[in-house]
Amino acid sequence: MQDMQTVETIQELQQMLADLRMEGKMVGLVPTMGALHAGHASLVQRSVAENGATVVSVFVNPTQFNDASDLEKYPRTLDADRHLLEHYGADIVFVPSVSEMYPEPDTRRFSYPPIDTVMEGKFRPGHFNGVCQIVSKLFDAVQPDRAYFGEKDFQQLAVVREMVRRMEYPIEIVGCPIVREAVGLAMSSRNTRLSVDQRQNALKISQTLFESRTFAATHTVDETRRFVEDSIAAAPGLRLEYFELVDGDTLQSINNWDDTHYAVGCITVFCGDVRLIDNVKYSF
Ligand code: PAF
Repeated sequence: MQDMQTVETIQELQQMLADLRMEGKMVGLVPTMGALHAGHASLVQRSVAENGATVVSVFVNPTQFNDASDLEKYPRTLDADRHLLEHYGADIVFVPSVSEMYPEPDTRRFSYPPIDTVMEGKFRPGHFNGVCQIVSKLFDAVQPDRAYFGEKDFQQLAVVREMVRRMEYPIEIVGCPIVREAVGLAMSSRNTRLSVDQRQNALKISQTLFESRTFAATHTVDETRRFVEDSIAAAPGLRLEYFELVDGDTLQSINNWDDTHYAVGCITVFCGDVRLIDNVKYSF
């Protein structure tokens, strides 16, 4: 396929995909909610490198927002998104309407405790159910060979992997590393909502996580948790929602570094009314 195509309906999308499959192309899917940035670009680049065709969905999914004002304030920048996607070589941009994805209310319930009940699951009830609703609909519509998700949403990636395992989707889930600004801030569509001062304050989040890695090498799990909690509490303009040190596979809290071969620190912080998440891996 030459030029990037924008499609709005599942029927149109599936016609195009049928043609691509006839040409023997593997299909990669990058699900997004738009307001694209370098983090999304890295997913698209990876998919373009690994598949004959790349579909990027741009859809602000209402069922995963448990806060109506968060949904309303979510940035929508379709023209800029299309430019970025064209630049990185996406083949199809799928931009469905809400009624296209939800012709009737989705009453399916996805529940994968304990992976989806801790951290984001605790603070954003229903969020992962909404994520699974839309991701499964996108998987059904696109039937990709591979699907690409960022590790910034570390728990989302674990929940999607679990859904794929339980529902036996023949799809390879590819987790891609967090992309950071030069100053360390994890790329997020929500960063555009930060004022200049808030942005400055937000830098303390990744700084603290990086410092905690050095601290952890000579301190216990509890001491490391307190180190992060105290640094964020002392930082101007930030309010910690949670910081958890967990096993990277099960997402369950650890008490000792020996409890896991793969410790991850997951944090959520409010910077004004902007909710930011980040995480860091610990290796000793
Ligand atoms: O990570 C996101 O942007 C969304 O949760 C996703 C996976 C596109 C589902 O709406």
